[in-house]
Amino acid sequence: MKLWGGRFDKGTNPEMEIFNSSISVDIRLLPYEVDVSIAHAAGLNKAGVLNDQEFNIIKTGLEEIKKIKFENIPDIEDVHTLIEELLFEKIGSTAKKLHTGRSRNDLIATDERLYLKKEVKEIIGLLEEVNDVLNDLSEKYRNTLFPGYTHLQRAQPITFSHHLLAYVEMFDRDISRLNDLYKRIDVMPLGSGALAGTSFDIDRTYVASLLGFKEISNNSIDAVSDRDFIIEFLSSSSLIMMHLSRFCEEIILWSTQEFNFIELDENYSTGSSIMPQKKNPDSAELIRGKTGRVYGNLITLLTVMKGLPLAYNKDMQEDKEPMFDTIDTLKGCLKIFIGMIKSMKIKNKNMEKATKSGYMNATDLADYLVKKGLPFRDAHEVVGKIVRYAIEKNSPLEKLSLEEFKKFSNLINEDVYEILDLENILKNRKTIGSAKWEEI
Ligand code: ARG
Repeated sequence: MKLWGGRFDKGTNPEMEIFNSSISVDIRLLPYEVDVSIAHAAGLNKAGVLNDQEFNIIKTGLEEIKKIKFENIPDIEDVHTLIEELLFEKIGSTAKKLHTGRSRNDLIATDERLYLKKEVKEIIGLLEEVNDVLNDLSEKYRNTLFPGYTHLQRAQPITFSHHLLAYVEMFDRDISRLNDLYKRIDVMPLGSGALAGTSFDIDRTYVASLLGFKEISNNSIDAVSDRDFIIEFLSSSSLIMMHLSRFCEEIILWSTQEFNFIELDENYSTGSSIMPQKKNPDSAELIRGKTGRVYGNLITLLTVMKGLPLAYNKDMQEDKEPMFDTIDTLKGCLKIFIGMIKSMKIKNKNMEKATKSGYMNATDLADYLVKKGLPFRDAHEVVGKIVRYAIEKNSPLEKLSLEEFKKFSNLINEDVYEILDLENILKNRKTIGSAKWEEI
């Protein structure tokens, strides 16, 4: 069966038939398209195009179609053709009235929006779960000293909790981006027809309310030819993956013997086929690796869309694979990420130990001199010299004697040892948002 055979004399070239078919991909939208079709039929009923009996027959038939479990992918052009054919098999010629006043163009755009709305909500839920785990961990390791890095060189002492909460901020922004783009997905194209609308007096607001859409589209051409709502989703997904990937990179580093800050649970690690001792952080590596395909999906759809004249073009059929793949990849990564960080062992003693070396209290020594009256640039110079001296002596700053300090600056007194203490450093931080000691 074809939805468009009338004008054609010849059949389709068999390879073209396969090339043109999208059923293997768009069958995923079947339950959504059934709902869209029921709402459309209700709109036709309200407009007087379908009588009550016809509407009820169509509705019952469609509801049955929704329950079908397909063992194999049917050999047919697309999900739209499949539903119409199945409906015809079930209810006979009344099925032929369903496509009144609609086109596959407004249909597919509506299916996709309905589908994406549900998926975006699920992804927001998963991100909230990530942040719940991170908040719990940061509560547990509230004042655990942790080396803060810049350039991956030890920089200033922070807490493990502050480091984790940096990611909470990122994921919070990701959630807010998804909530924001959700508003733009929540617009119903149905009723736009192929591109120009329809002469049937369908109450689109009524149809939208049946489907749970907040708004209806304003321009029929835009409604069927725009895919920016998917691109926006792919773009936000790319940012989420970028955040996950950075975190995973740290987890991979932290689980090395060199860092030794965490250990992934065996549940989320794998071994080597040759080296019996290996325990590899594959979960984190795969999330980092899968970031590439999500970026790729974004570029794919941006490129598909960039040269298309208005309105619908078949190129746009290529929008589904990047969207579905991104949803599957992102949800898969988030679920693994949650399990991975929930079960990892935190070696807080090693974190604290690492924080004690690397001269990370040098900035606070410079600040100390500033508070004694030295301009910061001079203080920086003096402390630089002290650090150099301490490195040569292989001693931490707090182990230098007062006489040694005095050789570099007379402003340094006994109270210096207090400010060099790591806990005190955290307690002395003043600015909002800084890595501070949290009183319990
Ligand atoms: N399978 C098509 C897609 O996914 C549906 C719309 C087809 N419209 C058409 N005029 N051929 O984009």
